[in-house]
Amino acid sequence: MRAVKTKLWTVDKNVHIHKKYPQIKEASLLITKNEVVAFPTETVYGLGANAYSDEAVGKIFEAKGRPSDNPLIVHIANESQLQELVNEIPEVAKKLMDAFWPGPLTLVFQKGEGIARQVTAGLATVAVRMPDHAIALSLINESGVPLAAPSANVSGKPSPTLAAHVYEDLCGKIAGIVDGGPTGIGVESTVLDCTTEIPTILRPGGVTKEQLEEVVGIVAVDPALVDDGQAPKSPGLKYKHYAPQAKLILVEGDKLFLQQQVQIAKQSGKKVGVLTTKENASEYDADIVLPCGSKNDLATVAQHLYEVLRKFDEYEIDVIYSETFPEQGVGKAIMNRLNKAAGGNVIKC
Ligand code: TXA
Ligand code: MG
Repeated sequence: MRAVKTKLWTVDKNVHIHKKYPQIKEASLLITKNEVVAFPTETVYGLGANAYSDEAVGKIFEAKGRPSDNPLIVHIANESQLQELVNEIPEVAKKLMDAFWPGPLTLVFQKGEGIARQVTAGLATVAVRMPDHAIALSLINESGVPLAAPSANVSGKPSPTLAAHVYEDLCGKIAGIVDGGPTGIGVESTVLDCTTEIPTILRPGGVTKEQLEEVVGIVAVDPALVDDGQAPKSPGLKYKHYAPQAKLILVEGDKLFLQQQVQIAKQSGKKVGVLTTKENASEYDADIVLPCGSKNDLATVAQHLYEVLRKFDEYEIDVIYSETFPEQGVGKAIMNRLNKAAGGNVIKC
């Protein structure tokens, strides 16, 4: 692949979305020239390109090493951009847009004309979201086009929650990175299919099932999310993802049981890591113990999850044992990502 000089811009995340900022102007100019630029959202950093350009979108797949059958989310800054992307907007979607946009909810619609072919990877549907982040919205406004944007990591690695993560993965492969500091939520948006009779969660994320149900009544969950044998409707979910370099094993059991696993691995000569919370960190004896948020506030676990998974790569360890979290609220998204990162390696007490 061609080597590219990667520009870095630093922008305060509290920009006014309709004011002009030279850094955002420069970044958007590159987008209008069909280059790709990474930018912060409220969930994770995205890697954006003009959603109407095959050439631009092709560069996203190339930079990430992303399989071509995995479609992208299109990011918009206003609802008139949605009209051009989709065939129709179902009533249920309108209610959800009113309640959660801008925000971490991606809605899947029947697609309209004109979107770059690779964005939807041949599907008849398109996934769209309006991010709740002033820099993202400014960049879309300034570029004048919707931005197709996956998470700005190399395929398979944890999504980036800091500009430094993007730099580590994609420096020399993309035209620029807008650094707006740490992202807020830390896990990606919820992907919800609005083309089915009952709206269906394809990927758990920043908006919980409980929150969705408060607005539209019953919401279904793609059976593939609970049964490994089924093919997921969201193509991205069939790939191993979010994985640190060391083998990750989830431990369902108490602290004593987890410490026993650590002991056994250490005795066999392995260098061992533990992923836990700040409350429990002092209770483990391993080569490296990394706390990830507070067990009393799962939102903080979500916020730091990818950062901690990436941090383990800095220590040359062989195996990481991770605590598990209750699958309630954002806990569903946390456990979905941990299960993917562990590739099904779970030990139960
Ligand atoms: O929070 C987020 O959603 C972040 C930020 C950057 O917006 N983006 C993100 O994109 O997570 P990505 O590409 O890493 O994940 C998009 C997911 C994939 O699992 C993909 O398969 C699914 O959305 N997807 C995209 N279009 C779809 C469609 N038409 N039908 C079903 N799933 C779709
Ligand atoms: Mg991703």
